[in-house]
Amino acid sequence: MFSFKKHVWISVFVGMTALLFFCGSTFAQKNQASDFAGIGRTATSAEVKAWDIDVRPDFKGLPKGAGSVSLGEQVWDGKCASCHGTFGESNQVFFQLVGFTNQKDIEKGNVQSLQMGHDAPARTMSMKLSSLSTLWDYINRAMPWTAPKSLSTDEVYGVTAYLMNLSNVVPDNFVLSDKNMAEVQSKLPNRNGMSTKHTMWPGKELNGVDGLKAKPDTQGSRCMKDCAVATKVVSSIPAYAMNAHGNLVEQNRAWGSVVGLNTSTPMLGQDAPQATSSKASTSAKTIDVMPLLQKNTCLACHAVATKVMGPAFKDVAKKYANHADGESYLAGKIKSGGSGLWGSIPMPPMSISDAESKKIAQWLSQGSVD
Ligand code: HEC
Ligand code: HEC
Repeated sequence: MFSFKKHVWISVFVGMTALLFFCGSTFAQKNQASDFAGIGRTATSAEVKAWDIDVRPDFKGLPKGAGSVSLGEQVWDGKCASCHGTFGESNQVFFQLVGFTNQKDIEKGNVQSLQMGHDAPARTMSMKLSSLSTLWDYINRAMPWTAPKSLSTDEVYGVTAYLMNLSNVVPDNFVLSDKNMAEVQSKLPNRNGMSTKHTMWPGKELNGVDGLKAKPDTQGSRCMKDCAVATKVVSSIPAYAMNAHGNLVEQNRAWGSVVGLNTSTPMLGQDAPQATSSKASTSAKTIDVMPLLQKNTCLACHAVATKVMGPAFKDVAKKYANHADGESYLAGKIKSGGSGLWGSIPMPPMSISDAESKKIAQWLSQGSVD
């Protein structure tokens, strides 16, 4: 029979469990999802639609639209060239997108310079791409890097057309659309080049050359009897890659169970670094500003103590420590980006609010960067 008292207790219990859940307590994490019935809701069809943007190799999923090579050129010059170079040739900032394909490749659908013994100086997007849908989809969801999903559908068609024009696949007056993607696909230099017979790193992938055998990246066989029970999965960073993207401990939040690895030292040939909590060495102000740096993608190019793509924030702080107007100068530079002060790599303009760039500039100019 229904008892009022019991009902109240159940409500209190459910309420507390929910509270603990939101506090992220380990107690709540141990409970099964079914203990939280009534939390959350089914996604609306509009929400599902916003996520459902994939495009298949047979072009299913492509939205209707069209963009010319010249529209693409405008988009490219304004939003892409700063990182990828005017002709997609930049290999200084990011890898080269266009180059090293020729008319013969377009006829055969196999890029010769990818074959053993014909190594080109770089492996470009136009050399490797085997389905045009991938390029369209990638640009649509991921580029420009600093503002993904900001291009209109027609702009994505245009800029895809422009990259195909730079790769000599389509003429200058071409208009790419959902109607003729398949036609362009049939001229892709590496359309027949898709292969699963290779390992992850180049050099040893071709079977039989110099006695080297191809080995797949993963191998598995089904076990039905007396199988090994526990497989311990671990991940680790090889010594040579340790500091490739700056100190990981500075790029993780400073609380919770995942604190990141201190990769700043030691480097190659020394002992493996230990996981450390960043709390010991990181000032409160730095911890405070971290979420802003994370949110505005600054940490893709910067770290606090080490140079990544851009200068270490410590070095920036040191350089402007004695400038009277350091704070307002830096707040402006964070929005405008710039080039030539720290090396040859430019910083793109950032779409960040005045309040947030000011807060970061304060941190940089008030001697609390460590
Ligand atoms: C702020 C720098 C930046 C800007 C601006 C930018 N990109 Fe990129 N782009 C990158 C980076 C970094 C990667 C590699 C990302 C990765 O591998 O996760 C990349 C990768 C790509 C790739 C994939 C290359 C490959 O072979 O995997 C394409 C295509 C591309 N960008 C096109 C564009 C287009 C089109 C625009 C303009 C609408 C653009 N990018 C603007 C930085 C940028
Ligand atoms: C695509 C990579 C990239 C991103 C993203 C990026 N930066 Fe930079 N940043 C650079 C590079 C490269 C430089 C060096 C530019 C130069 O030599 O003048 C730089 C320079 C700076 C400078 C020094 C400017 C000067 O005049 O000396 C500051 C401050 C700075 N960045 C802050 C930020 C902040 C804050 C963010 C996030 C809102 C951010 N950056 C995002 C690459 C980047």
